Amino acid sequence: MTFTLGFVGAGQFSGHFARLFKAHPGIDRVLATDLRPERAAALVERENLDGTLPNFETMLESDVDAVAIFTQRWTHGPLVVAALRAGKHVYSAVPMAITREEIAAIIEAVRETGLTYMMGETSYYNPATVYARTKLAEGAFGRLFYAEGDYVHDMDLGFYKAYEYSGGQQWRSTASYPPMMYPTHALGGVLGAWPSHAVSVSCIGMRDHLEDGVFDREVSMWDNDISNATALFELADGGAVRTNEMRRVGYPSHIRESRFRFFGTDASFEQLATTSLWQDKREATDVSDLIRTESTLSLDDPSLAHVAPELRDAFVSGHAAVHDTSALPKELTGLPNGHEGAHHLLVHEFVSAVEERRLPAVNAWVAARFTLPGIVAHQSALRDGQRLPIDDFGDAPQSLPR
Ligand SMILES: NC(=O)c1ccc[n+]([C@@H]2O[C@H](COP(=O)([O-])OP(=O)(O)OC[C@H]3O[C@@H](n4cnc5c(N)ncnc54)[C@H](O)[C@@H]3O)[C@@H](O)[C@H]2O)c1
Repeated sequence: MTFTLGFVGAGQFSGHFARLFKAHPGIDRVLATDLRPERAAALVERENLDGTLPNFETMLESDVDAVAIFTQRWTHGPLVVAALRAGKHVYSAVPMAITREEIAAIIEAVRETGLTYMMGETSYYNPATVYARTKLAEGAFGRLFYAEGDYVHDMDLGFYKAYEYSGGQQWRSTASYPPMMYPTHALGGVLGAWPSHAVSVSCIGMRDHLEDGVFDREVSMWDNDISNATALFELADGGAVRTNEMRRVGYPSHIRESRFRFFGTDASFEQLATTSLWQDKREATDVSDLIRTESTLSLDDPSLAHVAPELRDAFVSGHAAVHDTSALPKELTGLPNGHEGAHHLLVHEFVSAVEERRLPAVNAWVAARFTLPGIVAHQSALRDGQRLPIDDFGDAPQSLPR
């Protein structure tokens, strides 16, 4: 059985996924809409899709079975709820939402409709996370008690142009989006391996001093001047996680933009930009070859035309040795991949979850655990690191609620 998918938002990130969803044998038609209709038309033309729709509301009234939300990061919550309430399965780019209320509303809508919701968290399939997940399942860490996840991406490395494309003339006001409210590439990579959840947080934010008019409270629609933030989370199982969200940092994010470390009582795993080590009490073993992904696409590929050159490396990676690609349909072979091999796996996970009427790995309950702790962390940073409790929406049900 196949189904029809509608893209909401035809900006910089959507193209990579439109091509993959269109090629997946589980999808029969792919449509697109954008507040700027010329972008939807261009996406349809470039990726050979099946047509445009005038707006989101028309898409919800149409016969599409599912929607893929690729709108700006602060807009997802209400769009997701409206789509679920209109009877559509939903694939959503990160983050899940920007308030606790929006997250609660998505969970409620999934519970009541029984439809599939998946957050497209790339770090869930980050090779380091996959590796740690496998090692944890084998019991190789002993008791896991501490981990670190960093999303290290300087504004100079493509973000200015990306926000300019995204935010129009007012782009500076949106580019100051608080780093901890985009927490999933750091926290999701840790909790994607370690199945616990955060119960409290203390966060320190760095007030920005660079005078480029971005992290400036006078300009910011978020009233935000924090550009780097460090959070320490207490986990439900007694462990601790430290994450960093850095937008002003001397680090080669084109080599690696998320990095992870896990420490257990028997063994540990540490990732640097170019090297990854597995360590026990006797030795350190270089496991970089298991984690490494090779480029499969030229940086000049037409599908990257709308991506700032400094951001293109994230969109060309193939799979790593640790990835299980055995279930991927052959139609995806050779197509552009990205974010260390995550894109093919994300697309297939969503399509197969809808087909099989099962919860995807990053379902609404898991997505809430990757997202809400960052929202609370930002509040803690605004209160000079005050330790704040984090609500939990519980474990996902065993099967899709009907
Ligand atoms: N590693 C990752 O997972 C990763 C990487 C990049 C981007 N993203 C996410 O992908 C999403 C899209 O990013 P992008 O860089 O493509 O953004 P973008 O600004 O380039 O594109 C967003 C598009 O959505 C359109 N839009 C907004 N509201 C709409 C509505 N109600 N109906 C129809 N169209 C609407 C805008 O006009 C714009 O063209 C963001 O949420 C971002 O967080 C995730």
